[in-house]
Amino acid sequence: MEPIDKIVADAAGAFDAAATVPDLEQSKSRFLGKSGALTELLKGLGKLSAEERPKAGAAINEAKTRVEALLQARREAILAAELDARLAAESIDVTLPGRRQSSGGLHPISRAQETIERLFASMGFSVADGPEIENDFYNFTALRMFPDHPSRSMQDTFYVADSDKVLRTQTSPVQIRYMQSHEPPIRIICPGRVYRCDHDATHSPMFHQIEGLWVDEGISLADLKGTIMQFCRAFFERDDIGIRFRPSYFPFVEPGVEIDMAWERKDGRTTYLEVAGAGVVHPDVLRNGGIDPEKYSGFAFGMGLDRLAMIKYGVNDLRLFFDNDLKFLRQFR
Ligand code: PHE
Repeated sequence: MEPIDKIVADAAGAFDAAATVPDLEQSKSRFLGKSGALTELLKGLGKLSAEERPKAGAAINEAKTRVEALLQARREAILAAELDARLAAESIDVTLPGRRQSSGGLHPISRAQETIERLFASMGFSVADGPEIENDFYNFTALRMFPDHPSRSMQDTFYVADSDKVLRTQTSPVQIRYMQSHEPPIRIICPGRVYRCDHDATHSPMFHQIEGLWVDEGISLADLKGTIMQFCRAFFERDDIGIRFRPSYFPFVEPGVEIDMAWERKDGRTTYLEVAGAGVVHPDVLRNGGIDPEKYSGFAFGMGLDRLAMIKYGVNDLRLFFDNDLKFLRQFR
């Protein structure tokens, strides 16, 4: 091999071995730099005779062109490979399934509560609210559950230490609060949490009630019956639901009743299910709310929201509602 061809072959080998553009520039100087192999050859031209010089010069120039072409090709190859590597590293795999954002759902109790609020709103009731940490007066005394009254012990209560505050045991205190700040006609429901010292399949220390209060001139048990019946039919989506009153005692109503709803089973027998305590608001309770019992009368009821939700959704253990088990809760989404 002519020395000049060897230089070109060496250059090709060196360029191929260069992995990066800086490496390549390094190799380039060995052949085309100031003291590179081809440059040295050019410097030697002077020593040649006049006849030899053009041919040798042309051969060196031709070799230089080839080396420059090799260099350029290798430079492009390195840049292309680098670009490919970068694209591969930064690429997004559009075939990967996306990370799904799961959307939450309403808790069955909230769902039932919303339905109930909507149904009562359609009968002209608005939604009232009251504190969950209530004082003794509103929770008991104003409702005629006096300090030594046995009905207090039926609501084994969570008291706030060294105070007259209790976690409200019923939503009935909202009756007093609302009457004190509003004039009749009053037509409200108050859904909310209440607390009692109870825990089994049908009782939880925290549960939900829906209080109802309608005060106006001439309101009676007949209005209560119609209201509850219409509500039950709409809530359970059955037109054949009937209502039964059973005499009962609550200190803040007179007369007092338990309300059962009744419907016919497939075998023809009637099933009764207790849905609320209720009654005609006691005159003293109206007075405690600043309302004249000579002029106005009213009914009040207290329904168990969790109970209604259990029946509507076919849940047989109340505690399931409050265990926060997603497998249970997802069924209601
Ligand atoms: N507050 C009563 C209870 O929790 C229910 C009730 C409300 C009864 C309104 C009569 C009138 O047991």
